[in-house]
Amino acid sequence: MKYTDPMFAGTPFAGKTIIITGGGTGLGKSMASYLSSLGAQVVITSRRQDVIEEAARSISDESGHPVLGLQGDVREIVSVREVISAAAERFGTIDGLINNAAGNFVSPTERLSHRAFQSVIGIVLQGSINYTLELGKYWIDKKIAGTVLNIITTYAWTGTGYTVPSACAKAGVLALTRSLAVEWGRKYGIRLNAIAPGPFPTKGAWDRLFPQAVRDQFDPAYRIPLQRVGDHQELANLAAYLMSDYSAYVNGEVITIDGGEWLENGGQFNAFRHLSDDMWDQLAAQRSNKSDKS
Ligand code: HXC
Ligand code: NAP
Repeated sequence: MKYTDPMFAGTPFAGKTIIITGGGTGLGKSMASYLSSLGAQVVITSRRQDVIEEAARSISDESGHPVLGLQGDVREIVSVREVISAAAERFGTIDGLINNAAGNFVSPTERLSHRAFQSVIGIVLQGSINYTLELGKYWIDKKIAGTVLNIITTYAWTGTGYTVPSACAKAGVLALTRSLAVEWGRKYGIRLNAIAPGPFPTKGAWDRLFPQAVRDQFDPAYRIPLQRVGDHQELANLAAYLMSDYSAYVNGEVITIDGGEWLENGGQFNAFRHLSDDMWDQLAAQRSNKSDKS
């Protein structure tokens, strides 16, 4: 068993339909591929028609299961409704939703226009609200106990400079997750959970957040206790678990998958890792000198 191995065997998702926003690239595509390989009827959607159609084709060719690729913008409620009704028409029902689409960039906040904030908050927060609300109403109407998985980040609760629109939006998605897990969990059996990934190499994130010039100065793996970035399969495994009935009692939870990154940077004395063995020896010697004199 290795963390790069698929976790489930067989087709436990046979007959289940799952919509994944931003499912044509990066982590969304990896989750779509894995869920499709497990028998799910996957619907992926994003703005670029060519990207989404090509991804749907390649995932389906590989898994042997149908994948529907639909062009759409999570910010536009009409587009969200069209995707949901096309998915229901093609596959009969919809059982799950992964709010994965995101927009992000790095910048000192004082350089941003209000439209820059609007763009990221529109995709991440309003987009997740749009899909959750529309699909929630559909599930309530059809008496389906659906499952929602929101892809957030660890700075949803720590905050962070330089990606402030994203931090604000992801914090909102975390609040959405926990709030509706209680409200809709009790009334309708609808579960909502979140995954907070640390750094996982994707073109979308790396080009925008860790371009080569930045990577030359800060290796994303350096800050991580386990000293590596994430592998897509380990995130896909966690997503499959949270979308499956094996996690039926997990609700309103956010599971962090970051090799310990955010705790490393939160713990006041963790930077003491930079102290050499010689320095520790000197500190120990000073301590024993003092106790000899007392
Ligand atoms: C400052 C910027 C900017 C930048 C855009 N804007 N990029 N401001 N720095 N790098 C401003 C524009 O000038 C404009 O404001 C406003 O934002 C909207 O820009 P548009 O290009 O019209 O926006 P739009 O077409 O909606 O594109 C959205 C986007 C883009 C977010 C700007 O980057 C995108 O499409 N991203 C999708 C994929 C993505 O971002 N993936 C990464 C996810 S990774 P003005 O005032 O000029 O009109 C992630 C990881 C987190 O979230 C954690 C990692 C560890
Ligand atoms: P990515 O490949 O750039 O994925 C973002 C996706 O969102 C793209 O497929 C994009 O497709 C889609 N999208 C953007 N705006 C959209 C809109 N308005 N409507 C519909 N789709 C839209 O980046 P990623 O790294 O895989 O990120 C996936 C998720 O993981 C995001 O939620 C991100 O915040 C989270 N995350 C990633 C990391 C990491 O290290 N990679 C770490 C923490 C969290 P189009 O451009 O075609 O629309």
